[in-house]
Amino acid sequence: MNNPIGIIDSGVGGLSIASGFIKKFPLESFIYLADSTNCPYGEKSPEEIYKLTKIMVDYLLKRDIKLLVIACNTITVTCIDKLRKDYPSLLIVGIVPVIKTAVEQTKNKKIGIFSTSVTANSRYQNDLIEKYAKSCSVLNLGSSTLVSLIEKLDFEAIDGVLEKELIPFRDFNIDTLALGCSHFPLIKEKIQKYLPNVLILDSSQAVSNQVERILKHNNLVSTSANSGYNFHTTGNLKTMEYFVNKLTIKAKIERISPPANA
Ligand code: DGL
Repeated sequence: MNNPIGIIDSGVGGLSIASGFIKKFPLESFIYLADSTNCPYGEKSPEEIYKLTKIMVDYLLKRDIKLLVIACNTITVTCIDKLRKDYPSLLIVGIVPVIKTAVEQTKNKKIGIFSTSVTANSRYQNDLIEKYAKSCSVLNLGSSTLVSLIEKLDFEAIDGVLEKELIPFRDFNIDTLALGCSHFPLIKEKIQKYLPNVLILDSSQAVSNQVERILKHNNLVSTSANSGYNFHTTGNLKTMEYFVNKLTIKAKIERISPPANA
């Protein structure tokens, strides 16, 4: 089946997931929607996050997606259950940090999780820690400023924030860090600079594996050439273009007015 796979994120973070998909699924087409105008979602109420997410989902459903990937931890932990209830026939894959893999990889049993504040404090994430990381000491920290700075391409400020916010992980002596925000893999080299000997894990491999399972299980795997990659943003084209170039993705990029009117 050659309908596109839909990807949403509050901003450009989902590009870190999309680039992995493009390599793994060369025959699949993708449509990506970044709601950068309303980013960060983490500063909004759960009701508002749901409302904005629903607008994005409806926008992609009009474009006949066969599967929806929520490439945003904040949306996943806030409302994936409600989305599944309200869209019972839509296949939905969410994203959370790979805590189980971090536990398998750590040698000193000290792991870190670095997310947005809302994700770090969510019941959803704390339940995952409780379920998978009982055998380890866990430092679960959130940043409330990084996502906006990444959207603004303000790399100088990003360095300042990282220098400050990563110190606790160093002091805690973690050897493995799971990223709980899809924006963060976009600045992975910078994070690594402040935590030089730490294994940094993002969720892109886990989400790709999940998408592969679901496509196969539902007989939705594309067998003909893909029809391309359409990346839409409600925000600044420059930001989308910057990261698309950095990730060497060949996509058609478009700025759209807020999805409700598109
Ligand atoms: N990329 C989103 C995530 O993975 C950013 C969250 C936000 O907008 O607050 O959580």
